[in-house]
Amino acid sequence: MTRHLSMSINGEPHEFDAADHRTLIEVLRDDLALTGTKDACRQGVCGSCTVLVDGVAVRSCLMLAARCQGKSVTTVEGLAAGDRLSALQQAFVEAGAVQCGYCTSGMLIAATALLESNPSPTEVEVRAALVGNLCRCTGYAPIVRAVLAASRAGAGHPVAAVGS
Ligand code: FES
Ligand code: FES
Repeated sequence: MTRHLSMSINGEPHEFDAADHRTLIEVLRDDLALTGTKDACRQGVCGSCTVLVDGVAVRSCLMLAARCQGKSVTTVEGLAAGDRLSALQQAFVEAGAVQCGYCTSGMLIAATALLESNPSPTEVEVRAALVGNLCRCTGYAPIVRAVLAASRAGAGHPVAAVGS
């Protein structure tokens, strides 16, 4: 069955038709061209597809699009304010926490959820919050340093223009 769905995505209202079996990541990437959300395992294991649904970090490969009817979805494209990175994104850049980048959007979303609920996490709390997000490149240390730096800088507030 196909349903007509409406939801907020990155603060903008969206309406579209989606079959019941389609997942949120399929709609985001294939229908709405929001390809910042990465599709890796499709089994709920890697965390690369993490997005916020009503402020809660979820794996969009396991979430049916129909379950998001009337909800607010935030993807990595929604973290920056125009061309201004969030404090967390800027901290990732400065810490060298991005290598291949495949895990990065999921890491950013999971860390955003953490910092919104706990603005001053300890390193242990950061590591616990990111335990479900896998990275094959960085060894995790730069990512953890970036989240801690962002918490000190006030995560979520635009701090720098892209490319500046
Ligand atoms: S693609 Fe969703 S958890 Fe890996
Ligand atoms: S930067 Fe490559 S998987 Fe994390």
